[in-house]
Amino acid sequence: MEIHSICVCGAGTMGSGIAQTSAQAGFITILYELNPAVLEKARNSIEKTLQQLKDKGKITGEQQQETIRRIRYTDDIRSCQADIFIEAIVEKAAAKAALFNQLAGLNQIDAVFASNTSSLPVTQIAQQVEHPERVIGMHFFNPAPVMKLVEVVNTPFTNARTTALVTELARQLHKVPVSCTDSPGFIVNRVARPYYLEALRLVEEGVTDFVQLDRILEATGFKMGPFKLMDLIGNDINYAVSCSVWEQLNRPERLKPSFIQEEKLRSGRLGKKTGEGFYKYN
Ligand SMILES: NC(=O)c1ccc[n+]([C@@H]2O[C@H](COP(=O)([O-])OP(=O)(O)OC[C@H]3O[C@@H](n4cnc5c(N)ncnc54)[C@H](O)[C@@H]3O)[C@@H](O)[C@H]2O)c1
Repeated sequence: MEIHSICVCGAGTMGSGIAQTSAQAGFITILYELNPAVLEKARNSIEKTLQQLKDKGKITGEQQQETIRRIRYTDDIRSCQADIFIEAIVEKAAAKAALFNQLAGLNQIDAVFASNTSSLPVTQIAQQVEHPERVIGMHFFNPAPVMKLVEVVNTPFTNARTTALVTELARQLHKVPVSCTDSPGFIVNRVARPYYLEALRLVEEGVTDFVQLDRILEATGFKMGPFKLMDLIGNDINYAVSCSVWEQLNRPERLKPSFIQEEKLRSGRLGKKTGEGFYKYN
């Protein structure tokens, strides 16, 4: 089966980036979002990015216009008809499964459902969906149009067709797909957990402050220090991943989430998306 159309659900940080990536790669793309204000913000942000790419000579005016024409923005689920659905909605398994079931009722039996979840077991989502063999994880990284890696996360239910289709799609999106089995944090978020948590621990213990820590790690070759990276990801999302990995691995002390993350959530300082996290953004 060839993929012609992609429906991206959720137009927040990740969804808008995935939709842009899909349209730039030539796919008819539907961007579905419950909140019309978020949908409008996504349209503005995608069009602004495409304009910047054109101004820098990275795409032609024609490519810019074609990409814009390929994206349909909607808050009406009935217009979500596509070969594959990539969800980037709220990080709740029940919400993701409910969305997939709703979409399944509106689409062909062979439509594929991919979740961009960073922290939930994909198996838990699949179990709640009719025909779980067509549910898979397709984990993009932030910012989605730039980051090359996509983790293709297989559950015990996922069939070979779904894996092959999503792996090939990732390639057509000019990404590098890496296959893994469903497990806490998949590959990257598991490996990266100590990067954030040890940095938070050093600040909790008063050993150093977050600005200095970012500077040191950037000076040693990391592209972004842990605090800048947490602000980019979103402190809510990063905390959810920390909690999920910790719980799923039976609460090891070394991976215990930090109270600093909790405090960021309570105070609404979620990072770039709210204008303030560890740093301030205008
Ligand atoms: N932020 C990151 O760096 C990052 C990286 C990789 C994966 N993810 C994952 O991507 C998903 C989205 O994260 P985000 O940071 O883009 O979140 P976000 O809060 O920026 O966006 C989520 C959007 O989904 C919308 N939404 C909620 N329920 C919906 C529904 N039923 N139908 C349609 N739209 C709905 C919300 O209105 C919101 O605009 C999460 O599963 C997260 O774990 C995030």
